[in-house]
Amino acid sequence: MNDNYIEIVNHLREQIDIVQVISNYVHLEHKGNNFVGLCPFHQDKNPSMYVSPTKKIYKCFSCGNSGDVFTFIKKIENISYSEAVKKACELSHIDPPTFFSKPKKINPNQNLYDAINKLSEFYSYMLKTKLGLEAKNYLNERGLDDKIIEYFKIGYAPKDQTLSIKYLRQNEKIDVNILDKIGVTSYSSGDILDRYYNRIVFPISDINSNLVGFSARRFLPNQENEAKYINTSETDIFKKGNLLYNLNNSLPEIKKSKVVYVLEGFMDVIALYRAGIYNAVAIMGTNISENHLNLFKKLGCEVRLLLDSDEPGQIGIEKSIFSLANYNIPTSVVRPFSLAKDSDELLNKYGSKVLIDALNDLISPINFLLERNGKLNLLVSSKQKEDFLNLIKPIYKCSDSLTKANDLSLISTNLHIEKDAISDILTSSNSGFNSVTNIKATNLNNKKSELIPNEYFSLNGEVCINLASYLEKKYVKQYPSKIKFKFLKALIFNEAQLIARIFKIRECYDYFISSKNSYSYFYISELSTLMLYIGEIYQQDSNLKNIDDSSFANLQTRLNLSMEEAINLNDSQQIGEYTNLINILNCLYYSKSNFDRCDFDNFARLIKNHIVNLNKFDIVNKRQ
Ligand code: CTP
Ligand code: MN
Repeated sequence: MNDNYIEIVNHLREQIDIVQVISNYVHLEHKGNNFVGLCPFHQDKNPSMYVSPTKKIYKCFSCGNSGDVFTFIKKIENISYSEAVKKACELSHIDPPTFFSKPKKINPNQNLYDAINKLSEFYSYMLKTKLGLEAKNYLNERGLDDKIIEYFKIGYAPKDQTLSIKYLRQNEKIDVNILDKIGVTSYSSGDILDRYYNRIVFPISDINSNLVGFSARRFLPNQENEAKYINTSETDIFKKGNLLYNLNNSLPEIKKSKVVYVLEGFMDVIALYRAGIYNAVAIMGTNISENHLNLFKKLGCEVRLLLDSDEPGQIGIEKSIFSLANYNIPTSVVRPFSLAKDSDELLNKYGSKVLIDALNDLISPINFLLERNGKLNLLVSSKQKEDFLNLIKPIYKCSDSLTKANDLSLISTNLHIEKDAISDILTSSNSGFNSVTNIKATNLNNKKSELIPNEYFSLNGEVCINLASYLEKKYVKQYPSKIKFKFLKALIFNEAQLIARIFKIRECYDYFISSKNSYSYFYISELSTLMLYIGEIYQQDSNLKNIDDSSFANLQTRLNLSMEEAINLNDSQQIGEYTNLINILNCLYYSKSNFDRCDFDNFARLIKNHIVNLNKFDIVNKRQ
């Protein structure tokens, strides 16, 4: 560091009002010549941190932490000293000296951000006009006042689909090509239209607070048949799996509290904000992506899962618990609400005290699984109990010791097994879970072990893990042989991948139907039944690009009707099969994964191999 640097920092320290800066993080009160507040660096019960505006320092008389305004920010934000100097300048509205600001890189996407900003401003303005009155009333009725609307930049996309496009092109001189790139345009007989029309729009920002896209919610009674949300499709800057709603706003609070609440939707994050909880983000669905996991890991915070109390939400929690454990991220679960479906509903029905109490009702991931499996009657036989213990091993292993001790007692009471026996199983080295994601397929021809490339499981693996867990048990019973089971497991995974693609990409369906290869059918009977239903839907509408909300509703109705029939006939086997089908359908629908069309061939080829191997094995068996 040269003298110049030291001089400038000293000068800045004099200029900056330490009380004003620290007040951004801690509530300070006047006391004599000083200010006092709760020290953020330890669990402070009585205000023991003093800030001296004249000496320009802070000191905690309880934990001893002390320093100047820059060291305060360095510690609380966990950033470098130079970054802290820059931040302090920002908070004080002082231009940081030039050597602190790195040479400004011009972001190649800046024109896209600018365009989205203009569009968002347009929507915000529309919400304030007569055109947006109904939308505004809807938001007000759901408890969102002007301040909240402003904070979350919520807007209204007018019914006239040409307004926003005209405004952006004529007034803001934005090129159509840019509008295409931000995903706002749709084309109809030569007209350029706004695809988010007549909806309430929630702008979505990236971690750096650049607006990158929108989610547009229906709100009128006559829109019931339309999709609830229309999201920006993937663009250069909008990648749903990389984004967390409200992350940019909640970062300071997450860093401070070392906790992040992970919710499903926009309205839930807003509900927590209304109740004074600022460290909440939404995954915009029930799927935690690998990117999200990496981000949580980097933030080094505890994840508190709070997904909807309906079945997709609960499945989402279950999946997430395992993913988070794989990443060794400290996790707890907010006990699923019994009074409401989600946070927004709970707040509006019962008020913020009930919501905050519910948020503090935390249980361990293992406790969550115990309660869930208990409710589903999955912990009855000793085999089921053993399976359960094997399943939770990886979670147990990454829990802290207090949680471990607590969980042991809980498991013991719930499963009626001695603690020691449980602890033996849970700490034994072979892990039940990882073996699922690392199946070795034995090639029968040359007796050589061959590892199926891992990406077939990790790539959007959540769909197949879900499907597989539904299907495995049933098929495993049928096929006790170990080698065969390995093929079968791999087959289930690959077929799940295949049907997921058919569900999400029409092109895959067309390809599947046109190929005359022997793999053009599903080995797993549930999947082949589902394929028939999906095929019908695609055939009815040749323009359908994927199974959208209304075709999903259609499929659900059909399955429910068939299920009722089975119930009337009292046919337990069929009832079981339909339950599976409905679960699989939900899995496919609620999975927010985006698939690549080009993987399709790979999975199809793998399936063919698995089936060939299974058949070979059948023959070998029969000959014996
Ligand atoms: N979602 C989506 N597309 C859909 C449905 C849902 O992107 N067709 C995402 C949205 O981010 C939504 C979240 O999944 O916020 C949760 O969905 P849901 O629970 O159905 O919506 P809520 O957030 O509860 O919205 P609301 O309270 O307005 O019904
Ligand atoms: Mn809701």
